[in-house]
Amino acid sequence: LSRGTFPKGFVFGTATSAYQVEGMANKDGRGPSIWDVFIQTPGIEANNATGAVSVDQYHRYKEDIDIMNKLNFDAYRFSISWSRIFPNGTGKVNEKGVAYYNRLINYMLKRGITPYANLNHYDLPQALEERYLGWLSHEVVKDFADYADFCFKTFGDRVKNWMTFNEPRVVAALGYDNGFFAPGRCSKAFGNCTAGNSATEPYIVAHNLILCHAAAVQRYREKYQEKQKGRIGILLDFVWYEPLTRSKADNYAAQRARDFHIGWFIHPIVYGEYPKTMQEIVCDRLPKFTKEEVKMVKGSMDFVGINQYTAYYMYDAHNAKPKDLGYQQDWNASFAYEKRGVPIGPRAYSYWLYNVPWGLYKAVTYIKEHYGNPTIILAENGMDDPGTVTLPKGLHDTTRINYYKAYLTQLKKAIDDGANVVGYFAWSLLDNFEWRLGYTSRFGIVYVDFKTLKRYPKMSAYWFRQLLRRNKH
Ligand code: GCO
Repeated sequence: LSRGTFPKGFVFGTATSAYQVEGMANKDGRGPSIWDVFIQTPGIEANNATGAVSVDQYHRYKEDIDIMNKLNFDAYRFSISWSRIFPNGTGKVNEKGVAYYNRLINYMLKRGITPYANLNHYDLPQALEERYLGWLSHEVVKDFADYADFCFKTFGDRVKNWMTFNEPRVVAALGYDNGFFAPGRCSKAFGNCTAGNSATEPYIVAHNLILCHAAAVQRYREKYQEKQKGRIGILLDFVWYEPLTRSKADNYAAQRARDFHIGWFIHPIVYGEYPKTMQEIVCDRLPKFTKEEVKMVKGSMDFVGINQYTAYYMYDAHNAKPKDLGYQQDWNASFAYEKRGVPIGPRAYSYWLYNVPWGLYKAVTYIKEHYGNPTIILAENGMDDPGTVTLPKGLHDTTRINYYKAYLTQLKKAIDDGANVVGYFAWSLLDNFEWRLGYTSRFGIVYVDFKTLKRYPKMSAYWFRQLLRRNKH
């Protein structure tokens, strides 16, 4: 495995997101996002951790970009915090926020790192949540398009790779079905859910997210793309769902899981409508695109980013639960992490993350075969250690090296078999704020001492540096 193993021009980078790394969340004019508010709900994060300071990339971006450069990476996938640019979601611009992203982008270019800018990574401005319930309202479509437009206009002379959203499925399902993520709405009895309706809200939110995405792409194409010569896409999370047995029922369960997971978004974007399984199962609760909207949504990506970490077995739930409870029940399928007592793969620290490299091959190949062989960027891939790991032990991450080796080998195999994959981004550059897990999980190839915020490249970072040497070919 080396840089030369991959096609010419293949891009290697690392990925982060604004709220997870920037810090300065309440400073320099930034307005709160729904995550700033949600994470302060009592009991939401065991140690009362927030992203207020995080790993302070706001001040340490030069050091971080220097690290990328030293490790031979080509690109950096970061996200822009909407409420740092528009503290109220709309209206007055926070010039300090704009200046920050200019500094970040300019320094990347100076150090030979190509910027991949994502417009939204979960952090909707809280002002819009309060104004009209955020993603639940159709009003957000215009506001998102205006925000996107501003970013294209302001940064697009230098940013040529745009992404509208990161993991909209997670926003819709975790934000509105099980309430695990901001804004924490759901109709179930668990957690901190205060309001919501799991049977309808996830679908409404997803619909609005798709329209936001498409409206932003439309602006880019109409006003900027020709002149700026960039490309634009969306980032989708894709757990690979493998049928537990060869039975018809389990095959169909796995298919439902894929349709309700990645099909929910990529199917409209490629074909202009939701997957058939979803239409049949969700029926009237599934919003419909108008003719005008179909035109805007269909074909609204130049590439698709896939965040791929893991795979699960799926089996039919045999109508275990009443059908009309909500999104998760609609699939009517259950997860299994093992088959006949054998785990699907070794588990990382996170409860959801099993090391299953062949899942990446299947996921990428599935996209190639079902969605017209689109340009794919493997936009996130990685694994975590527990936050309690201390120095120097935390630097000896051979398990992580083996994870990356195995997944990249499968990626290469998918490319050899015809998948049009043009880039790969490791999650993540740094240990950072891992949402509900706070700082108890470490995904970085660079260790961060959360007290001093000092950075220490792990062995996996040096492994990448070696892999990505340029002179060899
Ligand atoms: C995402 C993810 C990241 C996580 C990573 C590890 O939406 O891209 O949620 O933000 O930190 O996937 O869990």
